[in-house]
Amino acid sequence: MVDEATLIEAARAARERAFAPYSTFKVGAALETEDGTVVTGCNIENSTYGLTVCAERVAVFKAVSEGHRVFRRIAVVADTADPTPPCGPCRQILWEFCGDIDVILANLTREMGHHRLSDLLPLPFDARLLT
Ligand code: THU
Repeated sequence: MVDEATLIEAARAARERAFAPYSTFKVGAALETEDGTVVTGCNIENSTYGLTVCAERVAVFKAVSEGHRVFRRIAVVADTADPTPPCGPCRQILWEFCGDIDVILANLTREMGHHRLSDLLPLPFDARLLT
């Protein structure tokens, strides 16, 4: 298990690698797996705008593609005075792969809150409804 400051710092470092020339809004994410591995992501924009992928989803897809399946928490960092919470589609993707994890929000200088994913996505659609 990594400590929270380390996880936030990993998200800050990932944010530096964001490809965000259109919005200039850089976001970093750091996802902790059950074995303490940290997988990071940054937002990757596209000139079509609509093909942009958020930092959180990049982190989840990288982790899943590397074989990770169980996750503990995610830190999300942006350079904002108010916390930057995951967007709706990212909440759904996080729910699919991570379940009710802790979402830590931070900016460049401080931690700005913890949220259970179930508080951010209170009535989720998931595989249980497909049976
Ligand atoms: N973005 C993220 O990467 N994560 C969030 O939680 C919110 C939004 C990105 C998408 C886009 O590249 C930019 O921030 C502005 O919306």
